[in-house]
Amino acid sequence: MSNSKTIHIVLFGIGQVGSTLIYQINETKSRLQQDQNLKLKIPIVANSKLAFYDKESVSNSWETDFESFSVPYKIEEIIRFVKHQKFENLIAIDATASSTFIRNYISLIEGGFNIVSANKVANTLSYDFYQTLRLALKMHNKSFLYETNVGAGLPVIETIKNLYNSGDKIERIKGVFSGSMSYIFNQFSASDTTFSQVLSEAAKLGLTEPDAREDLSGNDVARKLLILARELNIKTELQDVKIESLVPKQLNGKTTLHQFKNRTKELDVPFQELKNQLYKNQVLRYVGELDVVSKTLEVKLISEEKNSAIGQLKGADSVFEIFTESYGNNPLVIQGAGAGKQVTARGVLSDVIKLSNNLN
Ligand SMILES: NC(=O)c1ccc[n+]([C@@H]2O[C@H](COP(=O)([O-])OP(=O)(O)OC[C@H]3O[C@@H](n4cnc5c(N)ncnc54)[C@H](OP(=O)(O)O)[C@@H]3O)[C@@H](O)[C@H]2O)c1
Repeated sequence: MSNSKTIHIVLFGIGQVGSTLIYQINETKSRLQQDQNLKLKIPIVANSKLAFYDKESVSNSWETDFESFSVPYKIEEIIRFVKHQKFENLIAIDATASSTFIRNYISLIEGGFNIVSANKVANTLSYDFYQTLRLALKMHNKSFLYETNVGAGLPVIETIKNLYNSGDKIERIKGVFSGSMSYIFNQFSASDTTFSQVLSEAAKLGLTEPDAREDLSGNDVARKLLILARELNIKTELQDVKIESLVPKQLNGKTTLHQFKNRTKELDVPFQELKNQLYKNQVLRYVGELDVVSKTLEVKLISEEKNSAIGQLKGADSVFEIFTESYGNNPLVIQGAGAGKQVTARGVLSDVIKLSNNLN
């Protein structure tokens, strides 16, 4: 059996995904130690202001400890602490939803950390930053894994990377990338409910953002599309994505959230008209599509054949069709829950284990 290896995890973000991850790590810990001789320890957990330290690793009762013993922190203090403790095999997990936390990535890498992230921000800023980050990783011989950035726990990024690295020519990727938009159009296409009613059901189920215009704007789908394109070495920016926003001009950002909520009925007629134009064997789907050959990235509402993988989608599932030279006209299809704290935390843990196996 291989020598025992201890991994030290610092977890930033203890919301839905972060707290589920602590639980999953603690549940899986003894099996990992038995099967792979891998010891996962979480000596620090932090939110935006406070950190809780437990050199031996936080337990499932970390929440009460956090309330009583957490202290304000700075990233530099955390880096100094792990150095002082001589912790090896360091992984910083970004389970924040922060647009600014990524400013710490370079310091963390320089401080000896590998990074696993559920947060999409670092991969969707300028291509300059994308490259700077990868250069820093290379210089310090560190890794950065982010499978959950696209399709949560579904193995989308790894599959695309493997196809690309093995020389298969990826020609096109098309899919429903957003759980909320999946639910909205799956329901709307299959029932006689009005669009505003479906929207309100999606909100009640916690599928949409508090302001559903964030989902309807297509920006989240565009970010995921951008991440996939960059995996294929396409040097592109978020502004290059052609987005068909489903937020009507009269209900855009200038309208307050309260006003928007009171006026969602204004969406009913235009979407009903689109539905009336469909043939019997068609449904509406909000998709992301990357054409690798022409390097175009598009987010759009389309009519799709009911019997295709995208057309058959149910619930709030995501689906990714990957067309390559080897797969020909029958794309490789990855489908399943593309959001949710359980599958996302599981995806983060899977990245942690993958990364740990490559650490010396
Ligand atoms: N939930 C899903 O289904 C899903 C799926 C795929 C990917 N993701 C991604 O996973 C990430 C986490 O999602 P979530 O649903 O767990 O979010 P959440 O419940 O809102 O939790 C966010 C956590 O991040 C902390 N945080 C915010 N800014 C921070 C900073 N600058 N430094 C350190 N901690 C900070 C927050 O602390 P405070 O309380 O102090 O603000 C909170 O603990 C997001 O990037 C999300 O896009 C989520």
